[in-house]
Amino acid sequence: MALFLGIDSGTQSVKAVVYDLESNRVLADGRAPHCLIEGLPAGHMEQYPGQWTEAMDTAILEAVSQIDRVAIKGIGVSGQQHGFVPLGEGGKVIRAAKLWCDTSTTEECTLITEALGGEKAAIAKIGNRILPGFTAPKILWLKRNEPENFSKMRHILLPHDYLNYYLTGEAFMEYGDASGTALMDVCSRTWSSEVVAAIDPTIADYLPSLSSSDQVCGTLRPEVARKYGLSESVLVSAGGGDNMMGAIGTGNVANGVATASFGTSGTIYAYNDTPVVDPRGEIASFCDSTNGYLPLMCTMNVTTVSEHFRKLFEMDHVQLNTSIEAVPVGSGGLVLLPYFEGERTPSIPNGSGVFIGLNGKTMNSEYMIRAAIEGVTMGMNFGLQRLKELGVSTSEVRLTGGGSRSPAWRQIMADIFGLPVVCMLEDEGAALGGALQAAWCWSRQRDSSVSIQTITESATALDESTRMEPNESAKAQYEELQAFHTSLSKSMEPVFKKHAGFKR
Ligand code: XUL
Repeated sequence: MALFLGIDSGTQSVKAVVYDLESNRVLADGRAPHCLIEGLPAGHMEQYPGQWTEAMDTAILEAVSQIDRVAIKGIGVSGQQHGFVPLGEGGKVIRAAKLWCDTSTTEECTLITEALGGEKAAIAKIGNRILPGFTAPKILWLKRNEPENFSKMRHILLPHDYLNYYLTGEAFMEYGDASGTALMDVCSRTWSSEVVAAIDPTIADYLPSLSSSDQVCGTLRPEVARKYGLSESVLVSAGGGDNMMGAIGTGNVANGVATASFGTSGTIYAYNDTPVVDPRGEIASFCDSTNGYLPLMCTMNVTTVSEHFRKLFEMDHVQLNTSIEAVPVGSGGLVLLPYFEGERTPSIPNGSGVFIGLNGKTMNSEYMIRAAIEGVTMGMNFGLQRLKELGVSTSEVRLTGGGSRSPAWRQIMADIFGLPVVCMLEDEGAALGGALQAAWCWSRQRDSSVSIQTITESATALDESTRMEPNESAKAQYEELQAFHTSLSKSMEPVFKKHAGFKR
């Protein structure tokens, strides 16, 4: 028997699944919450890495208590992308990690972009724009705002790298998650000396060397192995960012498949054999965690927005679903720009929510909820359409994340995307992806020809009962509404920039 543990450390919790490579089934799972640091200034989103490891311990212990621990052969870790974990001498965490959703680094983005010669030059040099979500501006922020902490720094890691470090003692980084730092040139898969120089030349020594994603990060530290009751020979695979691991867990490891994650963040991405660089920088040019590429669009406003409305109107999830169904396509002209948390794509870190179309008919909970759901889904569709313009076309969208559980919302997704949508049988895509990457890595040590596609084919099944096909007339209405939504968003950009009240 060969079992593999997959870990997904998200913004709110850590999940663990145990996957059986022979029966292709998830046999056990575990989960533990962690939290954001409260009371920080607007735009600052931080967490203590020590809480991630505590939550990971709890989730792993819960999962392995349900199976034969001797059969565990490997662990693969998925983590929220882009977070900055600065470590000092001896691997001590210097300060809380700034997260993917932290928008406090707009000045640092401008400084790095200028040093690279502007936005176009940045894209030509590394494949990406320098955005507040990414890691590079967070490092410059530390230098400018906390010089003492900056001078203590000896290692720079991402959240999943930190968990790998805790498990194995190795400071290791693979291409997938590293491509989201904005320090790596995605096409050459090397650290960019120009971005390093724009931040501080010393950091070149603190970045781990880059590894391919089928490499082993290490084996369990004796202390950790004892704690979990696992063998010290259990391997820890390279791991990756949550979207990269979500791609593996949804079988998005060959051209032609798209995954949309309707979670705390909204992401839409598709595997590609070659790098996809967007000259406008709207699609992030990432590597995946199987040694391919993963062009991706991320919005920061999906279930955070639907949850705000659900709680405001004191509805449960069933009532939310019924409310969506009670209102016609297009919500009677009520449209929401959903930038509650600022926004990454389009890049409006100072954005906020905007309703247009309020009147006697639409000013009620049902219309507002449907308009909110349509607004966030059009935000996601902006990415799908841009991927298509860049030559990445797909015939079906695989869904993950809380938003995909509502049938009424899924129908809206199918109608707005203009494509069939379907959920996976195993919903924990990123955690499953971690287990599958570990299984791939372990299998390759025995037979170097084993491909990731062989592993995912048998492990990732679609839940056909959730499939929704687009309705032709709704699809046509949404095409018009999408054009309006995109132009409204464009016309609001200067307003968000100017209006001091929106500043974070
Ligand atoms: C993607 C992104 C988010 C985080 C969420 O670029 O920033 O999806 O990975 O954990």
